[in-house]
Amino acid sequence: MRESRRLLVTGGAGFIGSNFVHYWCQRYPDNWVVVLDALTYAGNRRNLVGLEERENFRFVQGDICDRALIDSLLQSEHIDTVAHFAAESHVDRSILGPEAFVQTNIVGTFALLEAFRQHYETCNSSGVFLHVSTDEVYGSLAPNDPAFTETTPYAPNSPYSASKAGSDHLVRAYHHTYKLPTIITNCSNNYGSYQFPEKLIPLMCINALIGKQLPVYGDGQNVRDWLYVGDHCSALDVVIHNGAPGETYNIGGNNEVKNIDLVQMICQLMDELAPDLPVRPCEKLITFVKDRPGHDRRYAIDATKIKTELGWTPSVTIAEGLRKTVAWYLTHRDWWEPLLSEEYQTYYRQVYVS
Ligand code: NAD
Ligand code: DAU
Repeated sequence: MRESRRLLVTGGAGFIGSNFVHYWCQRYPDNWVVVLDALTYAGNRRNLVGLEERENFRFVQGDICDRALIDSLLQSEHIDTVAHFAAESHVDRSILGPEAFVQTNIVGTFALLEAFRQHYETCNSSGVFLHVSTDEVYGSLAPNDPAFTETTPYAPNSPYSASKAGSDHLVRAYHHTYKLPTIITNCSNNYGSYQFPEKLIPLMCINALIGKQLPVYGDGQNVRDWLYVGDHCSALDVVIHNGAPGETYNIGGNNEVKNIDLVQMICQLMDELAPDLPVRPCEKLITFVKDRPGHDRRYAIDATKIKTELGWTPSVTIAEGLRKTVAWYLTHRDWWEPLLSEEYQTYYRQVYVS
């Protein structure tokens, strides 16, 4: 029988963190789960609907840079497992304002590691510090390059990916130097429910639903390797339970798609599923816009290690996952409409209106 864990989930009110908490509470209902989230523009307590009433769940609003708060949570909640999702996560925002990325992604991860280092002696042998990272740390691939493996050299190109790379290096060093049981995962692009409107897939879904242009950067030929968020959660589950301390695992869906093809797929699903679209066929809204500065051309993950060593494979195809995701945005207008706030409109103008 598995031991009953006590988790601290940072960034648990964001996109992947909240999906992970829903997944975990359903799969391990006896585990104790504490979510620590600063509720930045990307954090949303409504992502945790249905969880806050549980007896073994606690939500704490706070910053991962607040060392005293983390020390007290680790101790008072008897945490043995940290699942660290909290981050500034959007590349375009990192280009507009990199400072918050350095602060949260590097300084915040450092504060968590230091707190966990002090706390670890009390965890007996069950401690795990899972650092959820990204494939963007490996840089950009040419069309025929092999996919990223765990030994691909780091070559981050944006302030976002550089700050994530910095945090990965700290996590690695804390295992090497202090023997902390840290594990790093580097995952490809996720999609699914509760993803903030600024990211490609929700942005296209929402803009289609309100009849706004679908802005494709550059020539639309950039490639991303898409993974349904539920599959990311099941990968993190096997890593937490069976991953080896000090190791890195790449996670990906083996689903490389060009941006323009993905947007076309979303348009077709919208035409089929949304009877009241303001503009149809939806593809009439596709507009090529100026490229993202330093835009990485292609990402692709080689997930052989997690498959062979831990037995994980993704279960949702892109066709299936995209259909579910489009349907979710279609039926959750009450979730996304309030997020199109004044702050979001200001951000949108900065990126899309030059
Ligand atoms: P997100 O932006 O949706 O959520 C981030 C969450 O972190 C938000 O709830 C926010 O309020 C919280 N947060 C931000 N700064 C904080 C701070 N200082 N203290 C406490 N909480 C803070 O991000 P996401 O897409 O869910 O990504 C989660 C993690 O997964 C990130 O570390 C990201 O780098 C990584 N990742 C994301 C993807 C992807 O496709 N979205 C892919 C691979 C890895
Ligand atoms: O690869 C993992 C990473 O995926 C994560 O680490 C990041 O947190 C996450 O934001 C994501 O980064 P991307 O930059 O790849 O995702 P985004 O959704 O912003 O963009 C996906 C692709 O679509 C990218 O090539 C840029 C393009 N794009 C994006 C937007 C928002 C457009 O063409 N138009 C757009 O309006």
